[in-house]
Amino acid sequence: MTLIIQPNDEGLNQACQILQYGGVIGMPTETVYGLAADAFNDRAIASIFSIKNRPHFNPLIVHIGDLEQLNELVELNSMAQTLIDSFWPGPLTLVLNRKNNSPLSMLVSGGLDTVAIRMPAHPVALKLCRLYKNPIAAPSANKFMSISPTQAQDVALGLKDQIPLVIDGGACSIGLESTIIDLSVNAPTLLRPGGVSMEALEKIIGPVQSIAQDQNPKIKAPGMFKRHYAPSKDVRLNAVDCKPGEVYLGFGNQMPISQNPDHLNLSETASLKEAAANLFRFLRILDLNPNYHTIAIAPIPIEGLGLAINDRITRASSKEFENH
Ligand code: TXA
Ligand code: MG
Repeated sequence: MTLIIQPNDEGLNQACQILQYGGVIGMPTETVYGLAADAFNDRAIASIFSIKNRPHFNPLIVHIGDLEQLNELVELNSMAQTLIDSFWPGPLTLVLNRKNNSPLSMLVSGGLDTVAIRMPAHPVALKLCRLYKNPIAAPSANKFMSISPTQAQDVALGLKDQIPLVIDGGACSIGLESTIIDLSVNAPTLLRPGGVSMEALEKIIGPVQSIAQDQNPKIKAPGMFKRHYAPSKDVRLNAVDCKPGEVYLGFGNQMPISQNPDHLNLSETASLKEAAANLFRFLRILDLNPNYHTIAIAPIPIEGLGLAINDRITRASSKEFENH
């Protein structure tokens, strides 16, 4: 059963304990309720995708409670600083470059070099973020393709006992997701309209490009942006062996007979959740190894999180998405 708990000290401490051991909870924000997990914990993030039933790994929004947290996570620039001064805490998400060695899970940013981040204005969300200290990743707390919940009961009903608790923060005052603006590119670009209007943004920083006006055919859905990370090496899917010049990414007992320490296994126990948690990190490690021209990837079952994993590696193997 999913408990709906009050946002008192006891409730928030309980929520922190669950986050600490890698659990996922429902968290109120001023926009919509979020499905919250520790943004440093790959497995916890993998659980979010599993609960949401998403067929692909859309990058998630990271929530922070203190500005000091920003420095180790992302590269700030002056425009970001200006927008932060004007709109935080509040429904504005900034897409910024990840800091080198940022402790954020690679799965949070869907393998991208950028991170979407905001400081929520809802007092309960803010309090939880400050109490927990690690940043909290939270997509809207709905199943894939269903409507974002704006009250605690909707979260509990929609997710059918898949999370231990939802913190009741009342009805969301905005009821619409945050505005997302990309500041990692030359011209600030609106990726999603939301709680802060375009006019309000432009008043502070001048003209903002809209992704909708930029008729880019590669952008098929949110999270499938042209800058999606793709390995620079070739990728061979459903590989049951390893050819010369290939480095292998295995799954379960599907590994090459040659014992090469460069080969990696997404999950020796064939857990799709563990594989999802390791996917982007391992792809990067293999991509950076100069001794191979191709990454050969074991067959991954197309069920549960395997759907999203297959979506992602198919994309990684497609030249169309390479290095944009
Ligand atoms: O109001 C909100 O933003 C709510 C509450 C819970 O904070 N969260 C939310 O998250 O709407 P979600 O996961 O449903 O939407 C996140 C959106 C996705 O469309 C994703 O593609 C985009 O943010 N996004 C996340 N990281 C990104 C990045 N690095 N670059 C571009 N887009 C990104
Ligand atoms: Mg959503």
